[in-house]
Order: sequence, then structure tokens, then C-alpha cells
Amino acid sequence: MPDAAVPVPLEVYRFAPGVDAAPTYRRYDLALTPHTPVLTALLKVRAELDPTLALRYSCRSAICGSCAMRINGKSRLACETPVGPELERHGRVVVEPMANQPVLRDLVVDQAPFWQEYERIEPHLKLDPRHPMPEGRPNPMTPAEVERFHDTPRCIACAACYSACPAVAADPAFPGPMALAKLYRFVVDPRDAARQDRLVRIQTEGLWLCLRCHLCTEACPKDVRPSERIRDLKEMAIAAQGPTEPGSRHAVGFASNVRERGTLQEAKLVRQTFGVLGMLPQVPQGIRIWRKKPEVTRRPGPIEGLDELERIYAAFEPKDGR
Ligand code: FES
Repeated sequence: MPDAAVPVPLEVYRFAPGVDAAPTYRRYDLALTPHTPVLTALLKVRAELDPTLALRYSCRSAICGSCAMRINGKSRLACETPVGPELERHGRVVVEPMANQPVLRDLVVDQAPFWQEYERIEPHLKLDPRHPMPEGRPNPMTPAEVERFHDTPRCIACAACYSACPAVAADPAFPGPMALAKLYRFVVDPRDAARQDRLVRIQTEGLWLCLRCHLCTEACPKDVRPSERIRDLKEMAIAAQGPTEPGSRHAVGFASNVRERGTLQEAKLVRQTFGVLGMLPQVPQGIRIWRKKPEVTRRPGPIEGLDELERIYAAFEPKDGR
């Protein structure tokens, strides 16, 4: 990428709740080298063009997590996002505050909802007396035990995953990707005495609201991969308590009915998810589907090569119950 300065049209969200009637986008035309981070561009705007622009930042080194915002629609750290690739892909750089949190002013959001969800998972060790910390040895775990959660401590709580998450947008009962990744960290810690309680509780406190879209993993600047940790939590919750919620019953039912026929059995899956009585509110929709596409409601015959599918299922069967 050349180092010469290029024209950079920067369109920045501006809004002061209680003062402005509605948000606006203000355009600033800058000349910057393609490697210039978006944060540097915003600071240049504030220093040279518009001192009223509000934004949050601190380290400028992708460490503190303060500068997360939406850049051309993606939740990212402004201090590690260069303007060049954004211009190449979009022809401009549009900067907006993070989603799923109320705007305080311009690019600054109120992170209270994000931190409340973190607090809700009780992010601290509840020590197991059978696994005490020996005197003078701060970490009694084996390397293999530490390996199980080695990526979650990389999280810098920037909230980019929370901003990118459509499940948070759709339902405030969903704790969000960061809180669940942190919960995973304590669930797999062998010193934690509350593993079972944590798994039982989270089954009814939003775990199954995850849409499995993986946008959180895409947004995470530290490769924590929250969507994979949420998948692990779901597996562990089912192993610990069985499929007790519609979400877990749906997952288990989906797997078992595909295993049985090699294809999805829609009507059976509704019964597996909601139970016989729970199906009653679904009846009008079932009738509509039956009228429009009766083949969906029929029980399909087994596919060819079902034995091969069975071998795949057997290979992925959980071996140690975790
Ligand atoms: S300013 Fe600290 S992560 Fe960007």
C-alpha cells in the first residue's frame, strides 16, 4: 500500500441526546496515508476541524478496548483499523457508535448494559475446597487444565462482540457473547465449585437465545471466539442437566431426528422442542404450512447412505461428558 496521502472522506455520526432532535452524519475531508488508523483520523478532526466531537480512547495500541466503534458497519477497534482498506472496499469511511448500547454523545455509548450482563454471570472463582491453592504456589492447575480456557483471558472487554450481536438487539435477556465467554472460563476451571449451578442457571438465563451467527467471533479483535465458547457451554449444559429448555430440546431433537432419517423431520422437531402440550400454540402455523407445502409436514423416508451418517455421528459422540 503506498505511503502517499490520499483524500479520505470521513462521515461521522453526531448526536447529543436531549439537545439534537435526531442524529446526523457530518462529513470531514482529510488527506491521510492509507495506513492511518481511523482513531488517528478522528483525533485529527477533533484537533483541527471540530473540537466538539466526542469519542473514547486511551492506549491507541489495541490493549484497553476503549475505542470500539462501528466502522463501515462493522464493530471494531478504531486504533487498529487503517483507513486504506476501508476506502478500497467502501469508497468512504463511515464511523458510528457501537450498537446495543445507548448513545451518550456522538461516538460515546453508555456501556452499563454490557457490564451488567458481565456482573450477572458472577465472574469470580467460587473456590472448591477439594482443589485448594497450595501455599506458595499460585496456580495448582495442570497445563492441560489451563489450556481449556487459554483464549478467554485475552478478552479486553471492548464490547465489539456485544455491539455486533443480533441476539442482544433482539432480546435483552441474552447475556451477550463476552459474558458467556467469561462464564465458560469459570465453568471449565477445575477449582470452581459452582460449575453445576452455573450451567443449570444459564440454561434459563439466555444461553439458548444465541443465534449461532458467529458475528461476535468475527468482531472480536483478540480472537477469543465467543461463539465457540457459547457452543461449548450449550454442550456442557446438556451434559450436566439434560435438555430441559426449548432451546436445548431443539438442539438435541434436531440431532436425533437427522440421525434417524438423514434429513430434518419438521413436524417431529416441533414436538421435540415444545412437547405435546407446548405444540398447541403452534397449530395454526402448522396448518398454514400444511396447506402451502404439505410435503414439509410429512415424515420423510430415510436417505441413502444412512449408515455413513451414523458413522459420522458416532465419531462426534461426546466421550467424557464435558
Ligand atoms: S485506544 Fe485502546 S484499544 Fe484502541
